[in-house]
Amino acid sequence: MRVNRQRLMTEIEKMASFTDAPPPAVTRVLYTPTDIAARAYLKSLCMEAGLKVREDALGNLFARWEGAEEGLGGVGTGSHIDAIPFAGAYDGVVGVLGGLEAIRSLKESGFTPRRPIELLMFTSEEPTCFGVGCLGSRALSGAWNAEQLAKLRDAEGKSLDEARAESGFSGPLESVRLPEGYYSAFVELHIEQGPLLEREDIPIGLVTAIAAPASLRVCLSGQGGHAGAVLMPDRRDALLAGAEIALEVERAASSSGALDTVGTTGIFNVHPGAINSIPSRVELGIDIRDVDGERRDRVVAQVIGAIQAICERRGIGYEIDTLNADPPALSGEAVLAALEASAQELGLAYKRMASRAYHDSLFMARICPTAMLFIPCKNGWSHRPDEYAAPEHIEQGVRVLARTLARLAG
Ligand code: GLV
Ligand code: MN
Ligand code: MN
Repeated sequence: MRVNRQRLMTEIEKMASFTDAPPPAVTRVLYTPTDIAARAYLKSLCMEAGLKVREDALGNLFARWEGAEEGLGGVGTGSHIDAIPFAGAYDGVVGVLGGLEAIRSLKESGFTPRRPIELLMFTSEEPTCFGVGCLGSRALSGAWNAEQLAKLRDAEGKSLDEARAESGFSGPLESVRLPEGYYSAFVELHIEQGPLLEREDIPIGLVTAIAAPASLRVCLSGQGGHAGAVLMPDRRDALLAGAEIALEVERAASSSGALDTVGTTGIFNVHPGAINSIPSRVELGIDIRDVDGERRDRVVAQVIGAIQAICERRGIGYEIDTLNADPPALSGEAVLAALEASAQELGLAYKRMASRAYHDSLFMARICPTAMLFIPCKNGWSHRPDEYAAPEHIEQGVRVLARTLARLAG
């Protein structure tokens, strides 16, 4: 079996050219014209590879290679191509185009799968547009039902239904959920997004568990006014309450007793945003994660308690919206074993590790045995324009993936 590294690297480079930020930064937000153009490019590659392409009502894209035997659950692989503002070229893309390359190399080797093998490109793994991550896999797995999905609104108040219809994705949201037994296994290739593999000079990570993320949207309302005229004792400054809350997020995550707990206030929108005006309204986006779901929940509760206390002391109104609080996922042993056997066959060193970032596999693990494989990325950098994975590491990941798909598809 031969992986065509040159072909794959050319496609990764081409995919990076679909961006709304100046290169090397990649910004590719759900349902923007740039996202739609990137999807069309991916579709053309899948069709060229002889795969049968379909899209569901959310825009999840499936590219299928039928198996020799009818009626068997398929083996899925894939990831996402959407990218947060000012991200890089490899997050998600390596799993989608690398998955395609693994399928092509199996086809070109003359292999015939018993089960279908299917490439999946998930809609909106990133939470950029509607505030929740893993939108596509959340819906595919039934973790969220149509009613929960229909409530989603973007920053301009546009509903998911309006947004998807504008991009040509229609049909009932109920139809997105996959039928039981649709997949017999799922495996996702991804860059590590952390420094461990590179630091230890190990080319392959076998992901045993995915950390549990929770996201809060906090809206604070104080009293605006003239920055010169309102005396300090009379102020109810929403930004200052937000600043205290952000520090509390840091304190709560850092004092959980485990380095696995992390907390980030990544959104801090200030209204009206004028230097001579007291901030009257602030919106915070808070992300708290842990591999231990209960410990994560204790930290979330501590932060919510602090928000109440801070706002009461400062006379600030608050609304707290828990956008998601997902449980962690454990990998399927059979898929891990297939990955391990494939890495061994290729003579590649590997280690078992947890994923601190979340991935669509967090939700795929709810419907079929699922595991991920990681490859190193430079300095562990991700979600930034200088994100980088070396071609030889990408090729090694694809080789392990291809053999794993072959093992699982029989
Ligand atoms: C996914 O991009 C994450 O935030 O972990
Ligand atoms: Mn990401
Ligand atoms: Mn990703």
